[in-house]
Amino acid sequence: MKITVVGAGAVGASCAEYIAIKNFASEVVLVDIKEKFAEGKAMDLMQTASLNGFDTRISGSTNDYSKTANSDIAVITSGIPRKTGMTREELIGINAGIVKTVSENLIKYSPNVILIIVSNPMDTMTYLAYKATGLPKNRIIGMGGALDSARFKYRLSEALDCPASDISAMVIGGHSDKGMVPLTSLATRNSIRVSEFLSAERLDQVKQDTKVGGATLTSMLGTSAWYAPGAAVSALVHTIACNQHKMFPCSVMLDGEYGLTDLAIGVPVILGKNGVEKIVKIELSSDEMSQLKLSAEGVSKTNDTLKDMNLV
Ligand SMILES: NC(=O)c1ccc[n+]([C@@H]2O[C@H](COP(=O)([O-])OP(=O)(O)OC[C@H]3O[C@@H](n4cnc5c(N)ncnc54)[C@H](O)[C@@H]3O)[C@@H](O)[C@H]2O)c1
Repeated sequence: MKITVVGAGAVGASCAEYIAIKNFASEVVLVDIKEKFAEGKAMDLMQTASLNGFDTRISGSTNDYSKTANSDIAVITSGIPRKTGMTREELIGINAGIVKTVSENLIKYSPNVILIIVSNPMDTMTYLAYKATGLPKNRIIGMGGALDSARFKYRLSEALDCPASDISAMVIGGHSDKGMVPLTSLATRNSIRVSEFLSAERLDQVKQDTKVGGATLTSMLGTSAWYAPGAAVSALVHTIACNQHKMFPCSVMLDGEYGLTDLAIGVPVILGKNGVEKIVKIELSSDEMSQLKLSAEGVSKTNDTLKDMNLV
């Protein structure tokens, strides 16, 4: 199992570290455009191998995609992160060109690769990667919902004063402050609906805190967060690499599912060795359905910018 991570910055390196620590991949290749940066991160991570007890070989490359040849999975984290006060959509001007070039380079050397897109605005970057590479829909996956759901579980665990492992909950929709749809009606603590324990007002607060989860951290850190994003990507990589058939909300190209077409947006999917094994259709309340529709309108509007930039 060979995994490439493009962008050896905060999220890319954190993702590579979690993959290595889980010890399921034979090889991880980090790629960055900054001279010797990926090589340096790879060497630093390799020096943790004897301490953390993993056998995964991590190497780095400065923009040489021949080193990524025959990757099974490639993660794209290259691009700029947002700074305090910025929206993810504002990153499109710089990140779209980067994601297009990087995805084209990746498939030149790994035609059978499964791509996981992380760079923001993620749903639009996933759509762009699909259009740029012509890969089948099951091999293009945007990571956002796995992170947003982990943040939702964190906020619920805070409100319920219990460990996050007691919580089952999911966020679907676009990966943006306005577009996220935390499914409060379906969230449970050990199969008991969280609404049994929390007032409607408290649940609404949890929902609002979840939606601005990334912006809250950006205002504290001065840049975008990396530990939870890295862990979320590595969870998707792990379930695909080990053909686990776990369910995660991921941004995938839709063709009529949930009444939506010609866009990638977060919905529950089963992940396995073929990438997206199945898009799962769940019953949403009419309120959640209209939130998802509204979210999709926002994603489509951002996708239109790609046309203005002559990228699709
Ligand atoms: N989808 C999500 O849930 C999620 C979560 C967190 C961050 N992000 C996004 O991930 C991206 C990376 O964030 P970060 O905090 O790691 O940023 P970062 O600045 O720490 O790292 C980005 C890296 O990409 C590299 N890079 C730039 N252009 C490149 C190119 N053409 N080829 C190869 N490498 C290139 C840079 O040199 C840098 O090292 C941002 O767009 C951020 O918004 C997404």
